[in-house]
Amino acid sequence: MQHRTIGGRAVSAIGLGGMPMSIEGRPDRGRSIATIHAALDAGVTLIDTADAYHQHADEVGHNEELIAAALRSYGGDTSGVLVATKGGHLRPGDGSWTKDGRPEYLKEAAKASAKRLGVEAIGLYQFHRPDPNVPYGDSVGAIRDLLDDGVIEMAGISNADPDQIRQAQDILGGRLVSVQNQFSPRFRSSEPELELCAELGIAFLPWSPLGGISNAGDLATRHAAFAEVAADHGVSPYQVVLAWELALAPVVVPIPGASRPASITDSAAAAELQLTTDEVARLSAA
Ligand SMILES: NC(=O)c1ccc[n+]([C@@H]2O[C@H](COP(=O)([O-])OP(=O)(O)OC[C@H]3O[C@@H](n4cnc5c(N)ncnc54)[C@H](OP(=O)(O)O)[C@@H]3O)[C@@H](O)[C@H]2O)c1
Repeated sequence: MQHRTIGGRAVSAIGLGGMPMSIEGRPDRGRSIATIHAALDAGVTLIDTADAYHQHADEVGHNEELIAAALRSYGGDTSGVLVATKGGHLRPGDGSWTKDGRPEYLKEAAKASAKRLGVEAIGLYQFHRPDPNVPYGDSVGAIRDLLDDGVIEMAGISNADPDQIRQAQDILGGRLVSVQNQFSPRFRSSEPELELCAELGIAFLPWSPLGGISNAGDLATRHAAFAEVAADHGVSPYQVVLAWELALAPVVVPIPGASRPASITDSAAAAELQLTTDEVARLSAA
């Protein structure tokens, strides 16, 4: 598996997104554990999660606990795996997503995540989404305090615009290591943030890199050019999408979601797929 870096730490070029294993439509626990183990078998060393990846109100951290359990039960060495979690988003249990960016809330949420993950310090903690009721600087200030206090080892942000990326980098004193924004063939409006991250040397983690849980199945029909390039290479269109994202900048680390072992095994192979410059240009223009 090819590697990329987040804050100087080497991670697999393709990560695993944990959300499909914990929200609506999730599989049974056995299949989820098998999916995480398949990712590890394929050389994946970045797993993205969040305390908000759960369905019912009384199961906050469902996905964090699942990942911690899968790492514990894996037969091989997992010391090189970076688990990246997030705080600041909540699921009250009625299917909605709410926000809480208050510093005191974020600090408690991070400590609760560390406990569920079974770690002294969280490898990468990301502020999930700006809260319009809290000044952005106050929320990011809490992330800085978590870094300073050793509750988290690295700090990232998510769903941020270029001004917020610059503001976060300033507040964190140059210690912002990652930005996680939506980016896929279907949703390209985070291009400015991707370019800014490339310029600043900050990892850019495209979320829903295949178009999202409910759209990924239609990828080949919605995006014909990706299916055509896939046929030329004899690989799945999912691999072509991920290889295209990797080709856009060395800071890109896609985190495709999966709830089946076969999905992440296939996606992980995208790290080895080399697209030509012409193919990348064609897919970017498609
Ligand atoms: N920061 C944020 O606000 C935010 C928001 C959304 C998501 N995220 C993160 O981003 C991750 C990825 O996004 P996502 O899960 O929403 O969407 P996605 O990665 O675009 O699509 C996930 C779906 O694609 C299918 N899939 C993946 N690889 C495949 C392959 N090689 N072949 C066939 N099907 C494949 C999976 O199917 P199966 O389920 O059948 O395996 C899965 O349900 C999430 O898991 C989460 O960690 C972050």
